[in-house]
Amino acid sequence: MGLWIILGAQWGDEGKGRIVDMLAEDADVVARFSGGDNAGHTIRLGEDVYKLHLVPSGIIYPGTTCVMGNGMVINPAVLKQEIEELQAAGVHVSPERLKISHVAHMITPAHRALDGAQERLRGDKKIGTTGRGISPAYGEKIKRTGLRFIDMLDKDAFKQKLTRNLENANRELTQLYNAEALDIPAVVSEYLGYADYFAPFIVDASGIIMDALAADRKVIAEGAQGALLDIDHGSYPYVTSSSCQAANAVLGLGIGLPDEVNIIGAVKAFQTRVGEGFFPTELFDKNAAFLRGDGTKQWDEFGTTTGRARRIGWLDGVLLKRVVQTNNINALVLTKLDVLSGLPEIKVCTSYDALEDERFPWISAEPSQPHYETLPGWQEDLMTLRRWEDLPQAAQDYVIFIEEMCGVPVRWISVGPERNQFIVR
Ligand code: IMP
Repeated sequence: MGLWIILGAQWGDEGKGRIVDMLAEDADVVARFSGGDNAGHTIRLGEDVYKLHLVPSGIIYPGTTCVMGNGMVINPAVLKQEIEELQAAGVHVSPERLKISHVAHMITPAHRALDGAQERLRGDKKIGTTGRGISPAYGEKIKRTGLRFIDMLDKDAFKQKLTRNLENANRELTQLYNAEALDIPAVVSEYLGYADYFAPFIVDASGIIMDALAADRKVIAEGAQGALLDIDHGSYPYVTSSSCQAANAVLGLGIGLPDEVNIIGAVKAFQTRVGEGFFPTELFDKNAAFLRGDGTKQWDEFGTTTGRARRIGWLDGVLLKRVVQTNNINALVLTKLDVLSGLPEIKVCTSYDALEDERFPWISAEPSQPHYETLPGWQEDLMTLRRWEDLPQAAQDYVIFIEEMCGVPVRWISVGPERNQFIVR
């Protein structure tokens, strides 16, 4: 069965959670390897809608073990709330099913406060972060001053480390950013409570994943964000603070390079992004409004985590091809094909005009004009279709165009928000 890595092939929000959910049905382990509660995965089961920010999507299946890997930054307050909401919805979540890597890093209110203060200071150069404290938490990890979940297991030492960490943050907040200081005793008391709550969840996550792979079980590594938000290979500095590439799955889970791996890229049928930064194919016309939706439907293009309206554009084939190559993606999942129904024509960017620097014909360079191929649209509603051969010819041609452009098959196509609204090829 082996390792399956599912990653977003654009700027996040490609619908990865659903594909993980679909592939997790026979999985033994579903593991997150990067990011924190900046991610937002929506899973629908009939009338029930689950919005997950931290817990891996596989939690919905009773037989799956869910692992939160060492590459994550985890806010215990958000995680506790998410666990309680899932429990209230009848989902079994316990230390038997949910495992937190002992060396995953922890987000505190100080990181959130610093994230906000740093964004304010950037003014019109702001990144548009989710405000969840992601960059300050990863920053501390790299500076070697961060707090890890293993620290919770020795409460006296944890109290001291946390207090020192918050004192440093308060100095930064007040002296550098002119922001309000945190109430240290209140935060410490709250976090000592989390230490009790989470102690049974904290494990050697690498060991669990290695054992599962050695026993030929199916392990799904669930990516967060998207490859174009990668700290090294994304649209820096308008990126997140972790690596969202397939290669980081092994680092962020603490395992060696596997002999065999399936790497699946999730790609939306058009391009979206939240936050600031580079977006060559962005649209501001009626097509953008059409593709975004008006927010009345849960699957309209408004962020799961922040509710912000997403920026919309035509599919950027230049970036997608590069992501397929640099992540060694074997197969694509194309999501939201149904949303294109009703457009008279559909464009795909296949090259950029007049690159400033021809050495870097992708994201590091600022392209001037995208060049498009125009394909015919289709008017039929796709949401009830379940077989490839039932798709209108123009929709099939669009899928085939993407495959030929990227050189990898589109193996799954989503045609609606429900779990069963998939066409498997
Ligand atoms: P941060 O990860 O909160 O620091 O935000 C950095 C950038 O990544 C911002 O543009 C965010 O909107 C974007 N971002 C972070 N997480 C996600 C995600 O899960 N989906 C889409 N965009 C994200």
